[in-house]
Amino acid sequence: MGLSKGFLWGGATAANQSEGGVLEGGRKLANVDVLPTGPDRKKIAAGNMKMSEWDEQHYYPAKEAIDMYHRYMEDIQLFAEMGFKVYRMSLSWSRIYPNGDDLEPNEEGLLFYEKIFKELKKHNIEPLVTIAHFDIPLHLIKTYDSWRNRQMITFYTRYAETVIRRYKGLVHYWLTINEINILLHQPFIGGGLVFEEGENREEVKYQAAHHQLVASALATKLAHDIDPTNQVGCMLAGGNSYPYTCRPEDYQEAIKRDREGYFFIDVQARGKYPNYALKKFEREGLTIMMEDDDHEILDSAPVDFVSFSYYSSRTVSAHPEDYEHTTGNVFGTIKNPHLPSTEWGWQVDPLGLRNSLNQMYDRYQKPLFIVENGLGAVDVPDENGYVNDEYRIDYLRQHIQAFKDAVEIDGIELLGYTTWGCVDLIAASTGQMSKRYGFVYVDRDDEGNGTLERFKKKSFYWYQQVIETNGEDLSS
Ligand code: BG6
Repeated sequence: MGLSKGFLWGGATAANQSEGGVLEGGRKLANVDVLPTGPDRKKIAAGNMKMSEWDEQHYYPAKEAIDMYHRYMEDIQLFAEMGFKVYRMSLSWSRIYPNGDDLEPNEEGLLFYEKIFKELKKHNIEPLVTIAHFDIPLHLIKTYDSWRNRQMITFYTRYAETVIRRYKGLVHYWLTINEINILLHQPFIGGGLVFEEGENREEVKYQAAHHQLVASALATKLAHDIDPTNQVGCMLAGGNSYPYTCRPEDYQEAIKRDREGYFFIDVQARGKYPNYALKKFEREGLTIMMEDDDHEILDSAPVDFVSFSYYSSRTVSAHPEDYEHTTGNVFGTIKNPHLPSTEWGWQVDPLGLRNSLNQMYDRYQKPLFIVENGLGAVDVPDENGYVNDEYRIDYLRQHIQAFKDAVEIDGIELLGYTTWGCVDLIAASTGQMSKRYGFVYVDRDDEGNGTLERFKKKSFYWYQQVIETNGEDLSS
């Protein structure tokens, strides 16, 4: 019993939330660089407000982030010390193809990641690489309207082919697109979409989704052709929906909501558009332009494994106006009276993780990978920079126990677990530094002040012990 010997323990980051150095090494701007902190962030993320360059009125946290661009080696050293078997990271698209439509890649960008992969190899840490984590070269948005344009398939696959070929032998685990369903909820973050007055948003989003799905299938096929040992996964912003009551229409609403996310994974894992989606397009009069061989492309390259992020479950009802709603999370949800909430209003539900794993395993029968999970909380370091983050340990302990139960009791196949923001980084939803997830504290505040120095928290040593005992000793 217990987790398999090869279970992949580790942590996760994304380029845009950690690297900084956005105009260094030949890189150019991306959508994620022009997201400020403050109230406008939400409007921009939703595609309701245009932001295509930096202005004087806003603060843009991705500019410097936690300066991983210059501090990668130090951070990898810390991951190695914790005993990481895997490190999930993403590549910055505009570091490799600065404009996105360039014909040749930027060698300096390619070299930057090559050095990182070689360093990881020295420490026997397997990279798990997200090709696109909310990250789209700004030029592609300005010139082509981003993913609503079919040409994006060409640009994305050129980029994917370049990196998969270049890092052959150094990288074996790939994720094509991070939280692909976020496109529906934060269309500028997930797809670089900015809406025009009066257009059919639903149609634009599903058209962009179609392009992403074809591009993802082509990248999956390329990865297998280039190196048959490559393992490619899709990636869902996960969390299952509970009906608020046992009224059948509430349960029906829960199925409907879950399908909004599963739609993407149904295509990526099974290679086919699910009937419920085709019916939706028909019913709502959405015309999604598809080319003749698109279905063949989707069918030819299902992913090898299904990965997802899990922070919380959701609660839904056919009569949402009757209930109090939570704040803070990207997914609107009714407040579940049985669950506690984080400081940012995300509801904590470890058993929901086990439920999600079971639901997904039943649905896809493919190995699963939890590639994000964690507690965003305010940390207060002592005079030596040390944080006693027992609350984070507690959160992680409960979630680890939940996935162990899913493996040991329910028999699901789980490849690994990478906690989100293993080193503190900027939050995607708010751009704040103060929403910290890490085992490593970074001296930086929400206004960009601080030395950027790294400090080990209590959870650093705890996670080290968890990995050392392959999840057997969760005590602190
Ligand atoms: C996921 C993203 O949505 O959740 C990450 O893939 C993000 O990029 C994480 O950081 C946590 O959300 P937040 O808003 O707390 O950073």
